[in-house]
Amino acid sequence: MKLEDLCINYNKSIRDALIMIDNNAHGIVFVVDGYKLLGVVSDGDIRRAIISGKSISSEVADIYNKQCKFLNHNVPIEVIQATLSKRYKIIPLVDDNKKVVDFASIHRLHQTPVLEPLLGGNELEYVTDCVKTNWISSQGKYVIQFEEEVKKYTNSSYALAVSNGTVALHLALVSLGIGEGDEVIVPDITFGATLNAVILAGAQPVIVDVERKTWNISIDLINKNITPNTKAIMPVHIYGIPCNMPEIMNIAKKHDLYVIEDCAEALGSSIKGKHVGTFGDVGTFSFFGNKVITCGEGGALIFRDEDIYNRAKVMRDHGMTPGKRYWHDVVGFNYRLTNLQAAIGCAQFEQLDKFRTKRKQIFSWYDKYLLDTTSFFDSQVLDANYESSYWLYTVTMKDKKTIDRDGLINRLSKLGIDSRPIFYPMSKMPAFRGYRTDLNGESELISTTGISLPTSVYLTESDINRISNEIIDALKSSKEIHRVINENM
Ligand SMILES: Cc1ncc(COP(=O)(O)O)c(C=O)c1O
Repeated sequence: MKLEDLCINYNKSIRDALIMIDNNAHGIVFVVDGYKLLGVVSDGDIRRAIISGKSISSEVADIYNKQCKFLNHNVPIEVIQATLSKRYKIIPLVDDNKKVVDFASIHRLHQTPVLEPLLGGNELEYVTDCVKTNWISSQGKYVIQFEEEVKKYTNSSYALAVSNGTVALHLALVSLGIGEGDEVIVPDITFGATLNAVILAGAQPVIVDVERKTWNISIDLINKNITPNTKAIMPVHIYGIPCNMPEIMNIAKKHDLYVIEDCAEALGSSIKGKHVGTFGDVGTFSFFGNKVITCGEGGALIFRDEDIYNRAKVMRDHGMTPGKRYWHDVVGFNYRLTNLQAAIGCAQFEQLDKFRTKRKQIFSWYDKYLLDTTSFFDSQVLDANYESSYWLYTVTMKDKKTIDRDGLINRLSKLGIDSRPIFYPMSKMPAFRGYRTDLNGESELISTTGISLPTSVYLTESDINRISNEIIDALKSSKEIHRVINENM
């Protein structure tokens, strides 16, 4: 819901107001003079006006309610929460000149989430098609089409749709025959699913540190940690920044290792035009609700080798031998994607180019309003000829000593801005202790200073400007964030 869908100029007709109310589904519109708040008009106000003889073509100015509730946009989130009620389900938020700059609603509670999907295309139509035609399980045209889309977009030879990005990793490992006694080199900064998949396959993760510049797995530490038991390297293109794949492939070739690329966050990332996931033996993707595009839950694998693809396909489908129903030559899993999920994914693929352009814009707006105007932050470095997926705008605090990242996250939350810390280092967590590590402090530094900011594709330049200004204001003035007096600006 955009602010424009809620604001009507006082000289518009009652009919216009009704159309707007019908579209915004909030039962109310804010009446403005330009942008300045004058009052509100609800569907009830319109009903009463028409019963008392007003024409539908009369001006909103004749009937609007001047005694409306509104709040200054700077009030703490607790005040907004306390004001919203059954009676006041939606409240305009104004600046000091009474210009409407935002709104609070019971549903939204003024929070700007870090990442939300945008289901503005053919999602509903395709899902409805599944229901109407009774194709709701894992067979159906959308699954096939989705695999084709993955293949086409990444320019890979083979693609397989699966239930999520975690099982994609597990399936990649087991179809390459990686298991007990094998070591898989993984980065210390990733989402836990990367390591969970290795452990689930029965192998041992070897956790190595990352590079300061890219936050991706350290090439030196991969080299240093290869043993006779090493079977694979699992680079993760963190936040969509590609790992140095040419170098990793050289190492893999030299030591005869498999490479599984975790591209969960990297749909659209490439090196010299070659999509990530196509360098290694297998590339895996996630289509969870917060990813570049989504199926709700979903995943995919891409392969170079037909035999590995065929093996993974059998294992995805319970291990049943193709052409011989209920016959198992190998142990397998049910890792299939449903037609319903694939239908959403196909509709999302149609919008992927548009989303990508928008994400890139959001990154450049943050760079403009936040990075270029202050010296508080560092960002990941994208090498020349490398392209990012622009998944989630994430920066690190330059100065860990004076600025408390968690204090900033708390402060932003009070202002209705959702933000996230970077992943904890894998080596720090109880679930992953006891495995071999090679650390040098980089992941710890990145993890304790990193913050991800709202990057949903529906955000506008003014949203990013507002978020950036709130961050800068908070960094300049809020005591809870500063350990020492600010001298960074
Ligand atoms: C780097 C990484 N790997 C794996 C996954 C797992 O994907 P899924 O949530 O689809 O299982 C995620 C995200 O969720 C991720 O960020």
